[in-house]
Amino acid sequence: MPQVIGVPRESFAGEKRVATVPEVVEKLIKLGFKVAVQSGAGDAMGHISVSRGADAIIVAPASADFLAKLAHGNADDLLSTLCVARECPLFVAPAMNRQMWANAATQRNIAQLASDGVAILGPDTGELACKENGEGRMLEPEQLFDSLIASRQPKVLSGKRVLLTAGPTFEAIDPVRGITNSSSGKMGFALAQAAAEAGAEVTVIAGPSALATPAGVTRIDITSAAQMADAVLSRVDRHEVFIGVAAVADYTPEVTHEQKLKKSKDALTLTLKPTLDILATVAARANPPFCVGFAAESHDVERFAEEKRKRKKLPLLIANRAQDALGNDANEVTLLDDAGAHPLPRMDKLALARRLVTEIARRLARA
Ligand code: CTP
Repeated sequence: MPQVIGVPRESFAGEKRVATVPEVVEKLIKLGFKVAVQSGAGDAMGHISVSRGADAIIVAPASADFLAKLAHGNADDLLSTLCVARECPLFVAPAMNRQMWANAATQRNIAQLASDGVAILGPDTGELACKENGEGRMLEPEQLFDSLIASRQPKVLSGKRVLLTAGPTFEAIDPVRGITNSSSGKMGFALAQAAAEAGAEVTVIAGPSALATPAGVTRIDITSAAQMADAVLSRVDRHEVFIGVAAVADYTPEVTHEQKLKKSKDALTLTLKPTLDILATVAARANPPFCVGFAAESHDVERFAEEKRKRKKLPLLIANRAQDALGNDANEVTLLDDAGAHPLPRMDKLALARRLVTEIARRLARA
């Protein structure tokens, strides 16, 4: 587990030095992290020594005033000096009144810090300490910590371009009805995030999903399988990796009614026609990217999945039980490649995505 060094905010009450431990540090301690609170006071070289062993510095909360100091390189107290003298990455989590956040000077400072390579985490929108509502609320400590972990992932896909499909598709029957499935998009979005964390340039072609776009990922929203196919096939040429995670509809109505269908006493028959298999089409190209597929099977998982891998000519296929995967936060999968079946233990989708990125990068290096 990473070690966190908490630097208390120091102020003076008369002659007396008062050290306040930030709330985020207290929350991290409650979350079970090992936190060493170190003030640097009494150490003439505290501004240097405190950060030397650290993997990163997070300033949380970062006030408008502190961001202004940082943008100008001021170094007149322990925290600002520590930031100027650091050799590790710096993260700031802005927290302030919404007008202070929207203020032109604050925005100018934020832009400057971003271009100086400082990672800006948040802020969120919601109730603020001043009881007003708006943008300026500090991200929760758990979110800050997740961002820190994300930034520390090995850059195994650096310089690579990754295209993914994610989520369900929606095949319209009429203006208000359609055929879809219960894919949430969680696995596809987690993989997009993990690939971006690993240094790749990532584009996700997403079916209808309420999930937030992971940081640094380009998202293209589509609705139907045909739109997903167009979006993929017009872009895939420029990519080294293609991952088909979407639960693409295998059939779509032959006719989409322009007007809402009216109810009658008779049975209704819909004629469906097959959609294009996007993954198989990409894998069949003359110079295909490294293609990865998913197979959700309800039974005989490995046998059906391996048949699918051969049929679609994929170097790597991730097989799971449909009942386990759809909508869940965790998943248990088996990797299938030319060397055989490699089962992985059950883990949450982001941990699994990071593992899969490592597996893909290793195979890509050999391909
Ligand atoms: N896939 C695709 N385009 C389709 C159907 C599937 O790109 N029209 C991709 C999925 O994104 C997934 C893989 O193919 O990576 C396997 O999808 P799955 O639905 O399990 O397989 P199907 O080929 O549709 O076979 P079946 O539904 O008969 O199991």
